[in-house]
Amino acid sequence: MKAVILAGGTGTRLRPLTKLLNKHMLPVGRLPMICYGLNSLRAAGITDILLVTGPDALGDFASFLGGGREYGVSLTYRVQEEAGGIAQALELARPFVGEDGKFVVLLGDNLFEEPLKPHLDAFRAQADGAMVLLKRVPDPERYGVPVFDEAGRIAHIDEKPAAPRTDSCVTGIYMYDGTVFDLIKQQTPSQRGELEITDVNNAYAAKGKLDYRHLSGWWTDAGTFGSLLEASHKLMGDAP
Ligand code: G1P
Repeated sequence: MKAVILAGGTGTRLRPLTKLLNKHMLPVGRLPMICYGLNSLRAAGITDILLVTGPDALGDFASFLGGGREYGVSLTYRVQEEAGGIAQALELARPFVGEDGKFVVLLGDNLFEEPLKPHLDAFRAQADGAMVLLKRVPDPERYGVPVFDEAGRIAHIDEKPAAPRTDSCVTGIYMYDGTVFDLIKQQTPSQRGELEITDVNNAYAAKGKLDYRHLSGWWTDAGTFGSLLEASHKLMGDAP
């Protein structure tokens, strides 16, 4: 299975640090944020990885990570010319994924401690469709929030709802089959002018093809100063 790490975006909630560095290059414990996703994927046996980032940050990633040898992975890069949403960035992965079918996507600011392999194995065993990983959080209104039907399947995901209907959120760890690229093509920009990954996931949900599992370990979306600090404390021991 191949993997895609999305590491673009403007990081507005982490200004002024993100005027200096792309969010995913900011230090978390002893390592730049991007390294944790690479390490998680390699530990799960995934080494063929596409990194998508913006034009301003590409040089920093290339000079720091190179081809990925030091991290035991093989890196390919693509540039998202203008920030147009997570799904727009993901669309750039189409030639990289090719006809290989199932693949995993990490939002580069999602940091977590548990191994990915059991989740990837469950997705490998799934006939087709997509899988998302959910996490119980105290502030679901900051995220995509699943709404379940009577059978316990995800009927719909509400993106940043003012009144969340569950206390779980959809993390930025997504597993897709090859149909995702056609589903992205069918999307139109949201009110904030972006192609939303939640709309893509909802297209799978509408077809009854969005499965899920729960993350049991610690997880954060390190997009704010508070969560960045928490992640630094939590992951301080993870590097030599
Ligand atoms: C994105 C997704 C959201 C998801 C979150 C996880 O939000 O749109 O559904 O819960 O990532 O990190 P963003 O961080 O881009 O606001």
